[in-house]
Amino acid sequence: MTMNNIYLVGFMGTGKSSVGRRLARERKIDFVDLDQLIEEREKKTISDIFKEKGESYFRALERKLLQEIASRANQVVACGGGVVIDPENIKLMKNSGTVVCLSATPEVIMERTRKANHRPLLNVPDPLETICALLADRQKFYSQADITIDTSEISIKEVAGRVLNSLPTL
Ligand code: S3P
Repeated sequence: MTMNNIYLVGFMGTGKSSVGRRLARERKIDFVDLDQLIEEREKKTISDIFKEKGESYFRALERKLLQEIASRANQVVACGGGVVIDPENIKLMKNSGTVVCLSATPEVIMERTRKANHRPLLNVPDPLETICALLADRQKFYSQADITIDTSEISIKEVAGRVLNSLPTL
């Protein structure tokens, strides 16, 4: 069986979950949200996991659940923004599907994440500064995706359309 998953990676606020849900609906395939799966397994919010167990515990869990997901096919998988930091995760995703990176400008990311407080990494006094610093740190990881789509100025529907157009074959 060919592993034809679509993995959506990219920074917080670039639209991975919204685009993922739409893609799955359009293609009539399964949608998996990795962060949501982590919350279900732990019966805790991401914020509480970070607070009570720390980031490295979260990263280990993220990797383990990604391994479970990658053993199945025909899914759209929305990943958390930090999944790409682990080279094993990138390998796993590339071996079981196409890695699509959604991007956006720091200002757009700031605007989209401003109202929500469920992202521990952006719960800081100067989120824009943190966004810029994290983006710079992570650029080398995000650039390993097979395809990158800038979502700053286009709708969820349009992003989904571009993802579908740029996929090899599904
Ligand atoms: C993280 C992104 C979050 C979540 C966690 C860590 C990151 O996911 O996994 O807060 O390191 O960028 P979203 O990108 O879905 O917000």
